[in-house]
Amino acid sequence: MDDGWWRQEEKQTKKKGETTMKQKRILTGDRTTGRLHLGHYAGSLQNRVRLQDEYDTFILLADVQALTTHFEQPELVEKNICEVAIDNLSAGLDPEKVTLVQQSAVPAIAELTVFYSMLVSVNVLRHNPTIKTEAKQYGYDDLTYGFLGYPVSQTADITFCDADAVPVGEDQLPHMELARKIARRFNALYGDGREIIKVPQELISQSPRIAGLDGAAKMGKSANNALYLSDGRETVFAKIKSAVTDPNRIRRTDRGNPEVCTVSQYHKAFNPEEYDEVCASCRSGAVGCAACKERLAERIDALLTPIRERRSYYEAHQDAVRELIAAGSEKAARIGARKMEQVKAAMHLAL
Ligand code: TRP
Ligand code: SF4
Repeated sequence: MDDGWWRQEEKQTKKKGETTMKQKRILTGDRTTGRLHLGHYAGSLQNRVRLQDEYDTFILLADVQALTTHFEQPELVEKNICEVAIDNLSAGLDPEKVTLVQQSAVPAIAELTVFYSMLVSVNVLRHNPTIKTEAKQYGYDDLTYGFLGYPVSQTADITFCDADAVPVGEDQLPHMELARKIARRFNALYGDGREIIKVPQELISQSPRIAGLDGAAKMGKSANNALYLSDGRETVFAKIKSAVTDPNRIRRTDRGNPEVCTVSQYHKAFNPEEYDEVCASCRSGAVGCAACKERLAERIDALLTPIRERRSYYEAHQDAVRELIAAGSEKAARIGARKMEQVKAAMHLAL
């Protein structure tokens, strides 16, 4: 098969009038440990939806990486492959444009992980700030080899398909730096002057980190502090009603301080047009927390309405979603197999 035949295939699916110039490729992904929430939406999904027109977009359903923390719950990880795919599609990713890839279905990712693992020192991984924060968050003091090494495996995720760039939030920056180091090291050792492994860039999304409804610093999939993309209107109103506000504002007539309030942060992220007014009426005491929350809930409900509509379509067509994942994964596996031929030839491991 001649090189790049699948890019041909992609060109044919392009609509009339669209450019046939080779697009740059981006790859990003989600661990399949649970449904996605508004933190994911603000931090990355929204950005992906914008980028899909400009870039050849690969979305990785990271089931293997999910096992680094959820190895005792493989059924949960499996169940969430389709859920996370549906979350991405519901957020507005177009199945005609993006390639959905199940990580475990791409052997090249596992193979590259092994080769890359020779090029990374344990100390570098132990000092990775994101690994440290996450280990603390999960309460690990003795890390598994797989958890400590997930940034190495993530480098394989990114490089098996020659991704040019990776849209990520700030917490993933140490991993991107490592990915570049590994790629450069590989090329220097085995490339003989060629770039066998593409050195990836990051596309940082500037969006703010979304706090949890309980006031925790981060909305987390595992903690019960999240507004899910799949939450219904009543759930949205009930959850926002229970959100933590300025603890010093006890009576309706007290003046509030929006700077210490989770609800005001949500207004900023999801209702930016009214943010200044929300803060002013909080500070003056003109608007009570109940009304302030109702206003936010309406806004978030409006944001979620089209997402829910798409979700109900995809939920009714789960078989088609599964076929989409299977087709995307097969395509990725073929791309990975070709990459492994180059890698093994360069490493003097060819048969
Ligand atoms: N670690 C990423 C996260 O927790 C998910 C992920 C897995 C990823 N593989 C990736 C992100 C490759 C970017 C590229 O959000
Ligand atoms: Fe928070 Fe709004 Fe109450 Fe102010 S009025 S403390 S911003 S919920």
